[in-house]
Amino acid sequence: MIRADLSDIPAYKPGKLAPRALKLSSNEMAHQPLPSVQEAIAGASAGINRYPDMAAVQLRTALAGYLGVTAEQVAVGCGSTALCQQLIEATCHDGDEVVFAWRSFEAYPILVRVAGATPVAVPLTDDHRHDLDAMAAAITDRTRLVFVCNPNNPTGTTISAAEFDAFLEQVPDNVVVVLDEAYIEFTDDFDAADPTAATEATPNALQVIAEHANVVGMRTFSKVWGLAGLRVGYLFGAEELIDAVNRCYLPFSVNTVAQVAAIACLEPAARAELLGRTREVNAQRERVTGAVNSAADDEAVVPDSQGNFVWIPEDKVAAVAGIADAEGVTTGTGLASVLTERGVVTRCFPGEGLRITVTTAAETERLLAALHLS
Ligand SMILES: Cc1ncc(COP(=O)(O)O)c(C=O)c1O
Repeated sequence: MIRADLSDIPAYKPGKLAPRALKLSSNEMAHQPLPSVQEAIAGASAGINRYPDMAAVQLRTALAGYLGVTAEQVAVGCGSTALCQQLIEATCHDGDEVVFAWRSFEAYPILVRVAGATPVAVPLTDDHRHDLDAMAAAITDRTRLVFVCNPNNPTGTTISAAEFDAFLEQVPDNVVVVLDEAYIEFTDDFDAADPTAATEATPNALQVIAEHANVVGMRTFSKVWGLAGLRVGYLFGAEELIDAVNRCYLPFSVNTVAQVAAIACLEPAARAELLGRTREVNAQRERVTGAVNSAADDEAVVPDSQGNFVWIPEDKVAAVAGIADAEGVTTGTGLASVLTERGVVTRCFPGEGLRITVTTAAETERLLAALHLS
């Protein structure tokens, strides 16, 4: 009755919850939505006897203004996870290949396999970065789509603009490249006043799409904007690709409340305040990274992260466990259990490492206390 291959596809594992514990397992913001956003949500709830605007015209227009593109160059989805799925559906037939780095966002291989396409996972380099040369070499004439996650979840590493340019030179024009920028707002050089601004440190998809018709950028309202529970993501690029992705949209899947809340986040005052929150997150990221690395006397225990999270690779877990007075613990799974007992829930990827979300100064105190670093 059911597809034979479905039981082999791993299920998506959401970040864990534990009663009264501090949840640092899903890369969410600690702050509640702004009062103006909560008011917009409350106001929109009175109209939910009606279907949502299927074309999300107001939201796409607001995003177009924010991004400096046209509304026809923007698609919205039920979280950027849905947009990943739509991109795969829009580009792949059975058996076509989708290339991505690994370890990266865990939904990529799941969505590829559910769509009947073939995942091609290219290992990260030893320093936890995308191996763009190996990814280019992995492209065959069956490849239809490439995911580049920048900053990479869960390692936090970035690629440089020059590296990405050199990679794109090697990608055939008929292969779509999606730059997944779920965490781009947390990069040190992101300019809150101008989200389109180019930096040498890392690519900005808004710059890249102007030069490459086969590249799309993908961002989300789940992270810095604090709307993870409402499910809105957005994609931008050439009209032809956006139109194709919109054809694969599950009708009405971005609901009215989500559309209204996202528009409220983009209002200039709200936008400035929300994007300004990255300053605290980034400062806490440096604090956690510095505290662990100097306690371990090893600058490389926690790699430099540009997301709202830090990564402890499996081979460094023992060093962190030593600092945390959890002697004998050598696996990410073991360290995650110790931290859960101490009231902090993190996200472990068995055999690969442990990811810890970074939020406010107050929550960082609790994290550092659990790591016996304060
Ligand atoms: C790299 C990356 N891309 C996309 C997503 C999807 O986010 P959402 O579906 O909430 O927009 C996530 C969520 O954690 C992510 O880490």
